[in-house]
Formats: sequence, C-alpha cells, structure tokens
Amino acid sequence: MQRVFSGVKPSGDFHLGNYIGAFRQWVADQEGHDAFYCVVDLHALTEEIDPAYLRQKSFDAALNLLAVGLDPEVSTIFVQSHVPEHTRLTWLLECTATMGELRRMTQFKAKAHGQEAVRVGLFTYPVLMAADILLYQAQRVPVGDDQRQHLELTRELAQRFNNRYGETFVVPEAAVPEVGARVMDLQHPERKMSKTIDSPLGTINVLDEPSEITRKVKKAVTDTDGEMRYAPDEKPGLANLLSLMAVATGRKVDEVAAGYSRYGDLKRDLAEALVEMLRPVRERAAALASEPGEVEAVLRAGAARAHDIASVTYARAAEAIGLLS
Ligand code: AMP
Ligand code: TRP
Repeated sequence: MQRVFSGVKPSGDFHLGNYIGAFRQWVADQEGHDAFYCVVDLHALTEEIDPAYLRQKSFDAALNLLAVGLDPEVSTIFVQSHVPEHTRLTWLLECTATMGELRRMTQFKAKAHGQEAVRVGLFTYPVLMAADILLYQAQRVPVGDDQRQHLELTRELAQRFNNRYGETFVVPEAAVPEVGARVMDLQHPERKMSKTIDSPLGTINVLDEPSEITRKVKKAVTDTDGEMRYAPDEKPGLANLLSLMAVATGRKVDEVAAGYSRYGDLKRDLAEALVEMLRPVRERAAALASEPGEVEAVLRAGAARAHDIASVTYARAAEAIGLLS
C-alpha cells in the first residue's frame, strides 16, 4: 500500500483553504493508502505564538481532523512533538541542506520580510517538514499549491542523502488538487486565505455558523464590470467564487460561470453550497467537543504507531550517515 503523509499547523482555526486544498484530499486518500496525518506543533513555534493558545489549538486541530472525516481506525493521526524522531532527523537533514537553497524558499522570504529578528526556526522550517515526510517513507503528500516548493526541496534532500549515504529515503511526490489548490481571501482576493492574516471577513472557518458563512460570501469583493467569466488575473474575486462553487458542487468552473448572469445569484447559491458542504463537519465537531478523552486516546495511539515507523527510518539514516549505533 502506498504511504501518504501530510501535516497542518495548529496556529489558528482551520479555514476553507485548508479544507479544500488539503483535508478533502486527506479524507479521500484514506481509501487504499496507509495514511499519516500530523498536527505540526513544532512548525507553529517558528512564529510568535502564546503557549496556552498553542496548546488549545493543537487539541482543536486534532478534534477538527476527526470532524472533517478522518477515521482513526484507518489513518494515523498524531502530534508532531510526540514523536521525537522528527527533530532528530531534522538535524541530519540540516547537515544535508545548504543556506542557499533555504534562502530561496518563497514562504521564508514572505514571512521574514520586514521582520527585525527572524527566528532560525523560520529559516529551517522546510527541513523539519522534509523530516516529517521522509521519516514515514511517504510516496504521496497531499497539500495545497503553496507547499510545492517545500516538496521540491524535500525531494532534493532525499535524493542527495541517498546518493551520499546509500538508499535510505523514499523520494515523495506532491499531490495538489486540480481546482481549489489556492483558495483566496474573500476580501483581498490577490492573497491566499490564511490563518494568520488579519482578515476575519475574508476567511471562512471550517466551523463558522451558517449565518457567518452567508454573511462573508455576500460581502466578498468582486469587481464592477459585472461580466460573468473565469479570469483569475483580471477578476480574481469572481474567479475565487467560481472555483469555490465548482469545488462545492463538483462541476467545472466554466459550467458554473455559464449558469449565472448575476454575481448576487452566484453568491446566494455559493453560500448555500458551502453551508451544506461544512454542515457534517460542524456537527461532528460539536459531538466530539463533549468527548475530549476520545481525542486524547486517538492521539496517544497515533503517536505510538507513528513512532514505530519513524524510529526505524531514523535508525537507518543515523547508521547510514555514520553515527555509532
Ligand atoms: P497550514 O494551514 O499552512 O498548515 O496548511 C495546511 C494545508 O492547507 C497545506 O496543505 C496547505 O497547502 C493548505 N492550504 C493552506 N491555505 C490554503 C489556501 N488558501 N488554499 C488552498 N490550500 C491551502
Ligand atoms: N508546511 C506545511 C504548511 O504550512 C505544513 C507541514 C509541515 C506539512 N510538515 C508537513 C505538510 C509535511 C505536508 C507534509 O502547510
């Protein structure tokens, strides 16, 4: 069975971009794959985050992964810091990576831009991500479009390590969805929807109430020419709404565009479609909230299963690189 690995940062509430770009694929990949899904709390430390908030969001993240439809009987769901091999392998890979290739990472450049004191962890973030993936010998990594470059680096590091020290790691591939790999902010459609951006009206959270979803969709920024066509560069706001409608209804973007003449009608139907898409998630999350012990048990079992695999890979890499066993 093919191995699948992916991760999400517990640095805030999960939003529609996470759901469409990542989680829908994660759920689909449970079928016929040996899947590992990780709450990457160590990655959340690369930016300012309050300890109590991080703790709460890490738990919420696990609960939400169950709510979106991951089945802990089928998939391994765990927290990154519970498996110490992630940081141990990171060091071996940091001694494989170069400053030059990390400096080229666009996410690093964007996040470090304008900061006076950039954390070293923000710089080496993609190496920790490579360790996450390589520890599980994953072939397939379902992610949104923004992670492509990190996956390229992961492949490069795996190949370099294998060439230098002998076959150790499987070289993974990114699995990016065809539509919805880049959900844009509803208020600022030139930037991606994200957890950290100060745009509450532009971000639909997975657990938003139906009335909030409707309000945000109705207020979404479009354009003034009123022409219904899919043109991401010229008409980014409308293109985003059309893509979302396509994803929520399983239709092609052009078909969706052909079905409407007025923006208001599209927004009305989109709000309804998103509410319906997220309804089961909201319901499962509410049910799980009264069973915190269940979430904790899932994470405990997940960490044990993850550790079984991660420890074997780490031992192999350590031996290959010349550490005394
Ligand atoms: P993060 O929230 O940055 O930890 O991302 C978790 C997953 O969601 C990754 O696979 C991202 O590529 C994906 N993702 C995050 N934001 C978006 C977005 N706006 N559109 C599509 N995918 C996204
Ligand atoms: N860097 C990813 C993001 O911001 C999260 C992540 C960490 C990840 N480790 C990973 C994704 C391993 C896939 C595989 O979205």
